[in-house]
Amino acid sequence: MGKIILTGDRPTGKLHVGHYVGSLRRRVQLQNAGDYDKMFVFMADVQALTDNADNPEKIRQNIVEVALDYLAAGLDPDKCTLFIQSQIPELSELTTYLMNLVTVSRLQRNPTVKTEIKMRNFEANIPVGFFCYPVSQAADITLFKATTVPAGDDQEPMLEQTRELVHRFNTTYGNVLVEPNILLPQNKASMRLPGTDGKAKMSKSLGNCIYLSDTADEVWRKIKTMFTDPDHLRVEDPGKIEGNTVFTYLDAFSCDEDFAEFWPEYKNLDELKAHYRKGGLGDVKCKKFLNSVLNKELEPMRQRRHEFAQDIPEIFNILKKGTEKARETAAQTMDEVRRAMKIDYFNDTALIQQQVEKFKES
Ligand code: TRP
Repeated sequence: MGKIILTGDRPTGKLHVGHYVGSLRRRVQLQNAGDYDKMFVFMADVQALTDNADNPEKIRQNIVEVALDYLAAGLDPDKCTLFIQSQIPELSELTTYLMNLVTVSRLQRNPTVKTEIKMRNFEANIPVGFFCYPVSQAADITLFKATTVPAGDDQEPMLEQTRELVHRFNTTYGNVLVEPNILLPQNKASMRLPGTDGKAKMSKSLGNCIYLSDTADEVWRKIKTMFTDPDHLRVEDPGKIEGNTVFTYLDAFSCDEDFAEFWPEYKNLDELKAHYRKGGLGDVKCKKFLNSVLNKELEPMRQRRHEFAQDIPEIFNILKKGTEKARETAAQTMDEVRRAMKIDYFNDTALIQQQVEKFKES
């Protein structure tokens, strides 16, 4: 059994820096380190439709945006299979069977689903497809026998539910599926990057995102208005680091080399934080540093995005080829699943013989 990475994103909008530090950056590192046997990254359009059923055009438009973000960030279709969820019918098939192995009350207890139901004001009107998306996500992961899922900690409940389903499946039908592990971001700030307003998570509806595809001007405009310490009114005042979005972003993005390159007065982030706490350091200086750090990371991506965007038919070609490749693995696992579940009627000569015997006497 090899080590297999799988992860994906809902194509509901362009990817932002929260996606990047939460998972995308790590995926590129893992891809380039090359110590995994297979790697799959996909656009979860089926999952996106579970709460956007009436807006398929939005999902359709964002397929290419997300593909461009992937390629710009450095995912390489030669090393990593990029595919579109809806084009793998085996995923729906496996979802159907996994649904028999989980109860309604267990799904109701999934904390991520609970939060999302509140966020979307679904209350009593929860679409069944949305309610069941953790099962569909378990199918995404297990159909490819993924061992490792790089994702933010909001995905932990999904992984837990997946492991339970794998356990139920394997004890009921025999060992076919593989229990996956989540691979969380390396530091806490990257786990759940707040929006530029300092609030909760970045989300398009809150208008607090920095997109990977934002221009340098747009990024600076957003950083300029970023939430800091509201009590840090004068430069001389001592400042607070906790809850200060600029420092949370620096935690997620900056490294010692950035100081050497852009702000050699400080050796590292700890020194900068100490000065800010003591007082005598203005927000604008910190914001300018953050801007340099972010742009150093984003500029090469902007350029690559621009280059890839010159040949859009090739993007579709990459996704089509990736989808075909993913389907090979999908078909193989589904064969095993059908055999284990005793629904492989036409491939089982022993079954035919057994039925012949059974009906001989009567
Ligand atoms: N739920 C994930 C998100 O909201 C997207 C997703 C769908 C996913 N299927 C997955 C992530 C499988 C990891 C593995 O971003």
